[in-house]
Amino acid sequence: YKRITVKSLVDMKRRDEKISMLTAYDYTMAKIVDAAGIDVILVGDSASNVMAGHETTLPITLDQMIYHASSVVRAITRSLVVVDLPFGSYQSDPKEALRSAIRIMKESGGHAVKLEGGKEVKDSVKRILNAGIPVMGHLGLTPQSIYKFGTYTVRAKEEEEAQKLKDDALMLEKAGCFAIVLEKVPAKLAKEVAESLTIPIIGIGAGSGVDGQVLVLHDLLGMTHEFNPRFLRRYMNLYDDMSTAISQYVTDVKAVDFPNEDEQY
Ligand code: KIV
Ligand code: NA
Repeated sequence: YKRITVKSLVDMKRRDEKISMLTAYDYTMAKIVDAAGIDVILVGDSASNVMAGHETTLPITLDQMIYHASSVVRAITRSLVVVDLPFGSYQSDPKEALRSAIRIMKESGGHAVKLEGGKEVKDSVKRILNAGIPVMGHLGLTPQSIYKFGTYTVRAKEEEEAQKLKDDALMLEKAGCFAIVLEKVPAKLAKEVAESLTIPIIGIGAGSGVDGQVLVLHDLLGMTHEFNPRFLRRYMNLYDDMSTAISQYVTDVKAVDFPNEDEQY
């Protein structure tokens, strides 16, 4: 396999090939995802919810992100690994943002970082890019600002917020970002942004007019039950399959059906 690079993604957009992206937070899952042919693995700060059970993405630390990312990197042979800069690791000033990005690159072996926001983080984005670290942007619904928004509903429905999003996307492209995630915005707006930029726009809840799609792996596999946004397509119901398997094991242990003659020494 040829390894995916940030340049491959821009090339894919140029030849109109859609980009596939999924989250992973650990070695075993990342190995399956990489082998199945995904282009980009995102070590998302959604690990805060999915792995740690927090209500928001805010509590996860840089050290915890590095732990998840290093586990993922050990598993992959082909995918590009993008790592989220967690809340608090880049907002205070560009120097801190660069220090955090450098730690991710050195200590996890990831290939790029992602951070949330537009003009508010412009100087940080530039500083990180100057160090040779590829940066992916993230606009629209930005979960690290949940307490500012108040809800996880669709963003940029009003003209003012839509215009800011377009300005921010253009700024991120000009600054040198290699791609941008657009989360939960109207499909029409997302398509417009994708068509006006040369870097790939990866959507989640942003319709099909963008250059690629990202989902949270555990949502796609149906391991999560409580989370039911309209944009989510579940490809399995692993929650039910796992429950069945585990309760069967419990039954077998209680009944001394497991282990059988062949399953012992
Ligand atoms: O953390 C995450 O999983 C993300 C994706 C939803 C884009 O940022
Ligand atoms: Na994230």
